[in-house]
Amino acid sequence: MIVPTRVLFEHAYGKYALGAYNINNLEQTMGLFEGSMESQAPFIIQISKGARSYTDKSMLEAIIRAADQKWPDSLFAVHLDHGDEQTCYECIESGFYSSVMIDASHDPFEENVAITKRVVEAAHAKGLSVEAELGMLGGVEEDIAVDEKNACLTDPIEAKDFVAQSGCDSLACAIGTSHGAYKFSGGQGIHFDRVTAIQSQLPGFPLVMHGSSSVPADEVSRINAAGGKLKEGAKGVDPEQYLPAAKLGVCKVNIDTDGRLVWCRVHRESFNANPENFDLRPPGKIFMAEYAKFIASRNRYLGSAGQLADAFAHASR
Ligand code: G3H
Ligand code: 13P
Ligand code: ZN
Repeated sequence: MIVPTRVLFEHAYGKYALGAYNINNLEQTMGLFEGSMESQAPFIIQISKGARSYTDKSMLEAIIRAADQKWPDSLFAVHLDHGDEQTCYECIESGFYSSVMIDASHDPFEENVAITKRVVEAAHAKGLSVEAELGMLGGVEEDIAVDEKNACLTDPIEAKDFVAQSGCDSLACAIGTSHGAYKFSGGQGIHFDRVTAIQSQLPGFPLVMHGSSSVPADEVSRINAAGGKLKEGAKGVDPEQYLPAAKLGVCKVNIDTDGRLVWCRVHRESFNANPENFDLRPPGKIFMAEYAKFIASRNRYLGSAGQLADAFAHASR
């Protein structure tokens, strides 16, 4: 069942975090639903601008609607990831999305507030909620690259002002994580002192963590052993840190890169092991099963595993 993101946040706040997983195609969607049902977890499907144009946005909508029918006991929200203003309006008008993210974090504070406020007005008029971003994560998001020295953590006092002025419903904060497979070198991790300080300025307000992939070392080395050339030694977020962050108000944990690594490893290994194969279905089948396993394991770290029945009851009230 597709529900408002707000309803999922109400249930999760301070107890667990929802996995927010990006999808681009059918196989990812199958793995996501299988893994979430296996772990009995509510979740958030994220669609980026790039995903909307990879095939056609209507294809993703159709796949999600079909999955909703195939798994009537599932509970999830559909969210636009890293939207610009125009894409937010398109998604709000479409009637399909539960929430949108307006990412104007690269603009100056006042401009970020003004853009977010416009999107909030349009979204609230249609019953959608809005995630905004303040601070700057490292890595690559959409077409903007931010290097380590230019990334800056979210200021807690500014966060409080930003939420009050913009009216947004959740806030993506820069708390030490970064996007992509080449996370910061060395000791990257969640700055828990910063999360605590932001939560104390915004008690009860849902926070969002982007760049939450862990970039498992064994996944990267398997990819490279099968002919890949990924840079080794990058370190993502330790999944053991998801739940402690959730207890501090992080309700949504964005994971995309790790799923791409699963896809890459499965396809490289499958074609290497079967060089005579040219059929998409054998690796596709393995990917769906492996992605489902991955999703279930992430949901267990997030604490969302086992919450489905209770969240369903909350959503049905
Ligand atoms: O943070 C960005 C997400 O990983 C989406 O990536 O824009 O390549 O779809 P994408
Ligand atoms: P990762 O690149 O760490 O998976 O982060 C994804 C993300 O933040 C999507 O918005
Ligand atoms: Zn992101």
